[in-house]
Amino acid sequence: MSGTVLVIGSGGREHALGWKLSQSPRVSKVYHAPGNGGTSENVAIKHNDVDGLVRFAKKIGKDCLAVVGPEESLSLGVVDAFSKEGLRIFGPIKKAAMLEASKVFAKEFMKSANIPTAAFATFSDADKAKDYIKRQDRPLVVKADGLAAGKGVIVCDSAAQALDAVGKIMVGKEFGQAGASVVVEERLSGEEASFIALCDGRTIMPLASSQDHKRIFDGDRGPNTGGMGAYSPAPVVDSDLHDKIVKRVMQPVLRKMQERGTPFVGFLYAGIMVDEKTGEPSVLEFNARMGDPECQPIMMRMKSDLYEYMQAAIDGRLDSMPPIEWHDQTAVCVVMASRGYPGSYKKGEVIEGLDSDFGPGTMVFHAGTARDAQGRVVTAGGRVLGVTALGADARHAIDSAYSAVRKIRWGENGHYYRTDIARRAIR
Ligand code: AMP
Ligand code: GLY
Repeated sequence: MSGTVLVIGSGGREHALGWKLSQSPRVSKVYHAPGNGGTSENVAIKHNDVDGLVRFAKKIGKDCLAVVGPEESLSLGVVDAFSKEGLRIFGPIKKAAMLEASKVFAKEFMKSANIPTAAFATFSDADKAKDYIKRQDRPLVVKADGLAAGKGVIVCDSAAQALDAVGKIMVGKEFGQAGASVVVEERLSGEEASFIALCDGRTIMPLASSQDHKRIFDGDRGPNTGGMGAYSPAPVVDSDLHDKIVKRVMQPVLRKMQERGTPFVGFLYAGIMVDEKTGEPSVLEFNARMGDPECQPIMMRMKSDLYEYMQAAIDGRLDSMPPIEWHDQTAVCVVMASRGYPGSYKKGEVIEGLDSDFGPGTMVFHAGTARDAQGRVVTAGGRVLGVTALGADARHAIDSAYSAVRKIRWGENGHYYRTDIARRAIR
């Protein structure tokens, strides 16, 4: 099979997916809808304009493979809409993407499939949630049910903080309708890892392990963000843990989804906590898509042809494909953000240094960037760039990524990045 690709979305993840797919000898052209300042062949259709995306895909023809980046497109049913028109698209249908779109659904699903996860209760009534919290004597986490760009999870140190979180989410409606229900769960401790696999409904094809850094400040302090950096592989995922995650988490998800008549096709992402005492994995969350920024280091390490694997997944023949091959090197992605993110920040600053010589093995993936009237690349979002480098080991990859980061700047002290990305990977 060969043809064009339409990458839906505009972040660093989508830039990396398009970059990787464009290297396939079977891909003639990659379109980005809407893309960003670093992607070419952009078409001005937003990721949530499902009808517009369908119309465009129809126009470019049946040999087009659409690839979905953002969760919002999935939860709006973009895969269902494409499939109805006989168009090829890689991603889960809306009912399967509920694993990410509703945390209440995901927790109930895990319970029914016996997948290890933190003990929990769900509420659609703020007073009942508060009564429950007052009766707990363990540290808790409060999560808005719906999509909140990675910001709807509040990890609490005290009951007072948990009560306050319920107030903000359910009464103050900080995340709108996404906070109509909440999950209150036991707070786990340990090391986190992201486990992502390509799925065709029946078979899982694991990708390389990775780990991201969700908090804004060094040392994992401050509020959660969409992700401030990532690296692959994650040393915490050894082969024993890998097998446990496949058997206890990924396979049960596929079996249960099949039983429900909503087979999961696409990237399945399990956010895992490895218990600090027992070393056993539990699921913190599911995403129904690639991680961002995990995607950037994973794509840099992937040797196999991603396009062929996506086509095989859509046709339900992943079981006939060999395991994906990876570069042995470590890849590290440092996110350069607008100062102020995840709060408010300036936009429209001209980014300098993008034409520097970064050397081989380094890629500057764009996220919140755009082109101004003169064609200059300007900032247009909170997470602006994902500077990603390969190295013989974590130390070398870190050095290369940060030496590239230091060549880039904007505004007056307008950029911000964490200085400790992937330090945990140095053992
Ligand atoms: P989620 O979007 O559910 O992955 O939550 C975002 C982040 O919150 C996770 O990556 C963890 O760092 C943290 N988190 C979520 N659930 C828990 C939990 N039960 N215990 C401790 N930390 C958690
Ligand atoms: N990096 C976490 C996520 O993509 O949800």
